[in-house]
Amino acid sequence: MSTVSLRKVCKSFGATAVLRDVDLEIADGEFVVMVGPSGCGKSTLLNCVAGLEEVTSGEIWIGERLVNEVAPKDRDIAMVFQAYALYPNMSVRQNITFGLEMRQVPKPEQVKAVAHVAEMLQITDLLERRPGQLSGGQRQRVAMGRAMVREPAVFLFDEPLSNLDAKLRVQMRAELKALHQRLRQTVIYVTHDQVEAMTLADRIVVMNGGRIEQVGSPVELYDHPVNVFVAGFIGSPAMNFIVGRAQAQPGRAGMQLLTADGASFPLPDSVRPDAGQAITLGVRPEHLDLATDSAVHLKVDIVEPTGDETHLYGKVGDELVCVKVHQRVPMLQGQVVPLAWPLDRLHVFDTATGKRLASDVLGVRAAA
Ligand SMILES: Nc1ncnc2c1ncn2[C@@H]1O[C@H](COP(=O)(O)OP(=O)(O)OP(=O)(O)O)[C@@H](O)[C@H]1O
Ligand SMILES: [Mg+2]
Repeated sequence: MSTVSLRKVCKSFGATAVLRDVDLEIADGEFVVMVGPSGCGKSTLLNCVAGLEEVTSGEIWIGERLVNEVAPKDRDIAMVFQAYALYPNMSVRQNITFGLEMRQVPKPEQVKAVAHVAEMLQITDLLERRPGQLSGGQRQRVAMGRAMVREPAVFLFDEPLSNLDAKLRVQMRAELKALHQRLRQTVIYVTHDQVEAMTLADRIVVMNGGRIEQVGSPVELYDHPVNVFVAGFIGSPAMNFIVGRAQAQPGRAGMQLLTADGASFPLPDSVRPDAGQAITLGVRPEHLDLATDSAVHLKVDIVEPTGDETHLYGKVGDELVCVKVHQRVPMLQGQVVPLAWPLDRLHVFDTATGKRLASDVLGVRAAA
């Protein structure tokens, strides 16, 4: 177990800057999940921590040790790669025990450890096969087994569950969470899966273009995204955005948003943008709902039933909007329906900077 500390880490490949001034303090035993669009630098960051890539500038500390000059094998790290690299000429069992043999762990302990992870990862009956005789998902589990059989200071996982089928993925996610709760190892985990990020993370790090946009607990990021990027990235289906200008609300104290096509949306009283300020209103699909009467209407284009919930896609004025409801509403295509407008769940951003306006506006903050 160990802390990990990244201080002003920059990494360039030639003239291309891939990590820019990354500062991150990871506590001992913390489970940190990195998310961000493809190519934003997540794998590069893990590779730098593992020592597979040299940083261009900045410092990486693991525990009390500055590891910039420390070889990968001496960093006390286990990594599961995005492209799981197994030794093709070794059996699954040998692949998993290799690291233990290198560390001269006694044989009986090796056997016990392998049996344990193999059972957990459901690969016991594959132990005598070679990687070439396995499916992608099976190989991925072997790669995880190889990392988990050791007890390193830090685990690095790069999309370890991406090749598994939906059911196995959910099982493995639960196993990982249980394992972490038991062993409390420090984990840095990269995923594209929202549910994985929300359920596994103590803290989520949202990256974009080689920079950290926000670091926080899953609930913090969901309730209080600091900018439009994080707001649109966390949550699925993604948050709806409506752009326009702030203006006084006729006949009322509060402000409203006026879109280019003349539609208006009330803003929470606690947000006070300047009149005329370009603002972006964010509202999550799950915070919109059908109503019997409202000033806001949705013209429904597409209805997507998912079983327990229904996603409605359509337009409010000229804006594309998604609404997630828990009823079954099969017959709404082409209809115009009133939408309940959740004044206390709106996110308001300055369009010019993308930054959140007055981040303590939400009812959820008051409740927290
Ligand atoms: N060895 C390299 N040489 C040059 N450019 C590289 C190298 N490795 C990565 N890059 C570039 O660095 C950027 C970040 O890559 P990285 O693999 O870290 O992204 P990622 O966030 O892991 O993406 P994904 O989600 O697709 O796995 C990309 O633009 C990639 O093309
Ligand atoms: Mg990657």
